[in-house]
Amino acid sequence: MKPEKEQMSKSSFPFIMENKLRPVSTINGKDYLYFAGTGYFQLQSNSELIEQAVAATRQYGIGTATSRTINGTTPLIIKLEKKIAEFFHTEDAAYLPSGYLSNMAGFQALDTMGFFDMIFIDESAHYSNTGGALATGKKVVKFKHLDAKNLKKQIKKHLKKGKKPLIVSDGLFPIWAEIPPVPKYLKIAEKYDGCVWVDDAHGVGILGEHARGVYDYFQLSSGRLFMGATLSKAFGAYGGFVVGNSHFIHVLKTGNVMTGTSSPPSAMVGAALRGIELVKNNPEFLRRLRSNALYLKDKIKNLGISVEENYLPIVTFSIGSSEKMQDIQHKLMEKGIYIQFVKYVGSGVDGVLRIVVSSVHTRDEIDFLVRSVGKLL
Ligand SMILES: Cc1ncc(COP(=O)(O)O)c(C=O)c1O
Repeated sequence: MKPEKEQMSKSSFPFIMENKLRPVSTINGKDYLYFAGTGYFQLQSNSELIEQAVAATRQYGIGTATSRTINGTTPLIIKLEKKIAEFFHTEDAAYLPSGYLSNMAGFQALDTMGFFDMIFIDESAHYSNTGGALATGKKVVKFKHLDAKNLKKQIKKHLKKGKKPLIVSDGLFPIWAEIPPVPKYLKIAEKYDGCVWVDDAHGVGILGEHARGVYDYFQLSSGRLFMGATLSKAFGAYGGFVVGNSHFIHVLKTGNVMTGTSSPPSAMVGAALRGIELVKNNPEFLRRLRSNALYLKDKIKNLGISVEENYLPIVTFSIGSSEKMQDIQHKLMEKGIYIQFVKYVGSGVDGVLRIVVSSVHTRDEIDFLVRSVGKLL
């Protein structure tokens, strides 16, 4: 092993981003054509978001040093929550310090409202869903990944008569970009008088006709559907949110998570407001992202790698051992390209190679990536 590689494999965080997120990003002192992360429109380095972050900080300071419930709610946070609700066509929204916490806060609110007695969760659901589910203290049962039949089987086996299930899944799974069969989950929830929660951290901003995520993709609307997500990916900012009807959001806002956390930093509130506006007012972002995704997938398919034929900007593959995949990643880095080798929930123990294309990549950049990957297979 080269000393540099050895050093990397020992570090908890071997890759250090030394500049803003861009199509060419600086990692460990070198510039790489960057095909990773979740900045689908790379709004994280958009000058308007940065300006709004600075303006919000000047006006409201770094933070309020108290929780939303006490007196940490600023007019800007109220404006952001209205903006989120407007985008998702819901009565109300709650803004939280992270997407990770949004799931916990959502489950707590549904629990307080007596909407479920037991939780059934996709076995590959995000860590934050599993953690949030366990934190309710209710019984949690896993069902097979994306498998509505197995969900039914688990409900029949574990749910006592007259009790209600909460069915939990990611809206768009981060590693393989799979879309769960939510209409089937909703039917099952209806049968047992329960409800469905999706954590749509990856779907919001990119999935569905209006980029509102998996419910938009399936054109679903029901009082039994609930959702939490993040502003840190497509929307370019930071922080989590939950959308829904006014009563549910009120219960959430008066619950433990909101009461027990400091209100989010002003910079992120300012940035998020502009990020949502930009996604909403610039449909060409989405058009370019989808067109780049289809272009990349078509080329990758020609290399013999199987891809989901849809407009989602994530291409994941697994080739041999962890070592082999890490070697491919390092060889691509030698050519000036960065893709992820990642071990994450849903990737399996060996990990996977994951390519993410953004709306701002050029066709030449995508061609160079595919040619380079092709030479290493
Ligand atoms: C599926 C999923 N849910 C939740 C989160 C947490 O969101 P946040 O980064 O805003 O805490 C992530 C984070 O990357 C995620 O991938």
